[in-house]
Amino acid sequence: MDEYLVVGNPVEHSLSPQIHAAFAEQTKQDMGYAKALVPLGGFAEFVDRFAAGGGKGLNVTVPFKPDAFAYVDEHDQAAQTAQAVNTIILGGNRSRGANTDGVGLRTDLTQRHGLALAGQKILVLGAGGAAQGILQPLLEACPSEIIIANRTLAKAETVVQAFAPLQGETKLFAVGLQGIVDRADIVINSTSMGLQGETAVLPQQVIEGAFCYDLAYGSSAVFCAWARDHGARAVSDGLGMLVEQAATSFEIWRGVRPATQTVYSQLREQIDGPKQAR
Ligand code: ATR
Repeated sequence: MDEYLVVGNPVEHSLSPQIHAAFAEQTKQDMGYAKALVPLGGFAEFVDRFAAGGGKGLNVTVPFKPDAFAYVDEHDQAAQTAQAVNTIILGGNRSRGANTDGVGLRTDLTQRHGLALAGQKILVLGAGGAAQGILQPLLEACPSEIIIANRTLAKAETVVQAFAPLQGETKLFAVGLQGIVDRADIVINSTSMGLQGETAVLPQQVIEGAFCYDLAYGSSAVFCAWARDHGARAVSDGLGMLVEQAATSFEIWRGVRPATQTVYSQLREQIDGPKQAR
C-alpha cells in the first residue's frame, strides 16, 4: 500500500488524515495516510528516512514549509513564489515539491463561496508565510487592487516588492495595520493572531459590506467571528481552503481529483456542531 504522511509540530489536531481517508475511499485508492510529529530541526532526516522506507509523499504544515522548500530537488512555480512547500512527491531519484495552499484558497473563494475576484479590491491582513502563499493565485485572478496590511510595515513593503513582477494590471500596496481606511470588497486574514485568541480590529467603513475570510478555522478563526459581528456581508473560516488544498495534493499524488463537498460538510458539522453546519 502506498503510504503518505502529514508532518508538523504540532500536528496532533490535523484534519488531513480524515480528509485524505475520505478522498481515498471515494476514489478507491489503496493508500495509507497518517500524521507524524517531527522534532524541530529534524525535518530533513525524518523525510530521508520516510523516503528510504518507500513513502510516496507528504503534506507539510507549520513550521516546516520553508524546510520542505529547501529539502526538495525541484518545485513548482507556486512553491517558488511562496518559498514554501506543503506537498512533497517522493519516488524515483528526485523529490518534488508543490504548494497547493493558494490554489486551495482561490478554489474555495470562487467555487464554494461563488466570488468573482476579477476587478475586486482585496485587503490581505498579514505579510508572513501564509500571506506569501496566497498572493500569486490571487493576482492571477486579476483583482483591481491588493492591499497588504501588516503590523510591521517594512515587511509588507518587502512582500509588495517581491510580488511586483507578478502584479499585471493589479495595483499592489503596502500599509501598516493602522493605515487601513478604505472599504474593501474582500478581506482575508492571514495573520497568526487567532492562535493567541486575538484579531486585528478594522474601522467600520473598511469591513461594512465586505466578504471576510480567515485562513484559520474553528476556534482560531477569531477574525471571522469578529467580522460577522461588525457588519461584514458574509464571512468564512479557512476550512474550505484546507479541504481544497488537500484535494489538489491528492490529485498531484494519485492523478484523480476527488469531490470535496461531502467531506467539507462532515468537517463543518464536526467543528461547528450540527445546527450551524452549512
Ligand atoms: P505564518 O506562516 O502563519 O504567516 P508568520 O510568517 O510568522 O506566520 O507571520 C505571522 C503574521 O501575523 C505576520 O504578518 C505578523 O505580523 P508582523 O510581520 O508584524 O510580525 C502577524 N502577527 C502575528 N501576531 C500579531 C499581532 N499580535 N498583531 C499584529 N500582527 C500579528
